[in-house]
Amino acid sequence: MSQSALPAELTIVPAPVPRTAAAEVLSFEGVTRRFATRTATPFTAVQDLSFGVAKGEFVSIVGPSGCGKSTVLNMTAGLDRPSAGRVTLSGEAVTGPNKHVGFMLQKDLLLPWRSIVRNVEFGLEARALSRAQRRERALRELARCRLSDFANHYPFQLSGGMRQRAALARTLAIEPDVVLLDEPFSALDAQTKLLLQRSFARTIHDSGVTALLITHDLAEAVAMSDRILVMSERPGRIVEEIVLDLPHRDDPIARQALPRAREAMSHLFQSLHLAEREE
Ligand SMILES: Nc1ncnc2c1ncn2[C@@H]1O[C@H](COP(=O)(O)OP(=O)(O)O)[C@@H](O)[C@H]1O
Ligand SMILES: [Mg+2]
Repeated sequence: MSQSALPAELTIVPAPVPRTAAAEVLSFEGVTRRFATRTATPFTAVQDLSFGVAKGEFVSIVGPSGCGKSTVLNMTAGLDRPSAGRVTLSGEAVTGPNKHVGFMLQKDLLLPWRSIVRNVEFGLEARALSRAQRRERALRELARCRLSDFANHYPFQLSGGMRQRAALARTLAIEPDVVLLDEPFSALDAQTKLLLQRSFARTIHDSGVTALLITHDLAEAVAMSDRILVMSERPGRIVEEIVLDLPHRDDPIARQALPRAREAMSHLFQSLHLAEREE
């Protein structure tokens, strides 16, 4: 899409955000998560979250530290359960860890004694696949992550960024319905981060997988997503949605330079009241 075809204004949708018309891979319906405390009053981490993510969409959730971003991902992955409301993945209620979700963390968690290709195969070993099928799939994902030449290397032989790409290949190899990314770049230096964001954006775009990214990095959210959900401070609620509708979803570096991307950034600064806050 050419930029001139875009409407002049950013699309900012105040809460409650409407559900996507397209088929939803992931949906949260009135999800609240409370944690027990030593007092009689439970602690509410997130409250009444309702949103959907359509197939192939890349959605980011931003919000201040402690607003419940990781809690949202954990409930999507089935590692945590809502106190109220419902989380569904491809139409099925999430009741525990399941093979429809690929979860990526800051740490790559590669096994140091296995070669890169054998690391990518690791998640497939519990599946009903032959060795040849596992190898074929692992090599396909390594190619998508531009790591074909490193298939037989060991993790210690790769840079931090390459190891994260290998971890993404391993995540995609299980063919998840949705990939969850919990601040996957936050431990990296600024330049590696930019390059890795671009690498991930390309791979995710090429694979067509649905992605949900949690980040406190506003520029990253703008550079990588189709849509951003903004959460408030505790208890975390969705306060608005920003529909980016920008070109270059596969190239965050090009995207950051677009006037609309800058506009989205300044809007986010306002939404999160960054000007008035002090840490
Ligand atoms: N298992 C838990 N038990 C008690 N409190 C928790 C638990 N997990 C998260 N919390 C609390 O819920 C809030 C949201 O946490 P989290 O989802 O990690 O926030 P974020 O990822 O946005 O920084 C925090 O105040 C955190 O301390
Ligand atoms: Mg977190």
